[in-house]
Amino acid sequence: MKRDSNRATVWPVWHHRRRLRLSRIAVAATAVLLLAAGCRLDMHVQPKYVPDQPTTFFHDGRSERPEIPGTVARGQLHIDELRYNGTINGQVANEFPFPITAQDLARGQQRYNIYCSPCHGYDGSGRGMIVLRGFQQPPSYHSDRLRNAPVGHFFDVITNGFGNMYSYASRVSPDDRWRIAAYIRALQLSQHATVADVPLEDRAALGLVSAPIKKKSAPLKEDLAGLASASAKPK
Ligand code: HEC
Repeated sequence: MKRDSNRATVWPVWHHRRRLRLSRIAVAATAVLLLAAGCRLDMHVQPKYVPDQPTTFFHDGRSERPEIPGTVARGQLHIDELRYNGTINGQVANEFPFPITAQDLARGQQRYNIYCSPCHGYDGSGRGMIVLRGFQQPPSYHSDRLRNAPVGHFFDVITNGFGNMYSYASRVSPDDRWRIAAYIRALQLSQHATVADVPLEDRAALGLVSAPIKKKSAPLKEDLAGLASASAKPK
């Protein structure tokens, strides 16, 4: 009986201690878990150099190694002289390095309108918006000189700049430069076309059915007058 009464008084204390011990274990376990999650050391701490950090390992004291001369990164082997330089045997080329499709022309138009039209104008006249606000006016693409210039010249101007015009090499990829050159050719044609360039079946639409074409190149006065009145008609 004495024993029983003893146990009755001891039990709450023992029970209380056990709860305390359990909660300590829980706290410790949580801390270990948190530490394990927060301090992952696997690849986070390792010997490495941050940019521009010196080293005694290499004789020049630089931890960054220069490119080995003659190294060519994948996709950067530019040995096609025409495609990447616009020349053939050092002479400015008058041909494209790849066939120009309607898609290439559309891309050329888009790139031209973005990069060139601010100064050269959408029509290539050299009266772009920046020029209207006072920037030096570039020459018109529709002069005899630029109409007769080889396409490689346009590639070269975009690549290396020209006079006061800076280079667009960092913004326009080589292939896009050719596409822009092709579009400039299209612009030149658009301002220098004769009725002879209009297919027979389309001439009626221009109101030009009558005039027989005598000479292929020089535009006839009456043809031009016809074109003007046709384009003046409201659609
Ligand atoms: C910020 C204005 C500006 C932009 C944009 C510009 N150009 Fe020019 N461009 C000029 C000026 C100015 C000249 C005349 C430079 C000179 O003679 O000093 C010129 C000259 C030229 C010429 C004539 C070179 C010659 O033989 O006389 C060509 C071709 C040309 N640009 C093509 C382009 C093409 C293509 C683009 C777009 C990729 C372009 N330019 C974008 C201002 C510009």
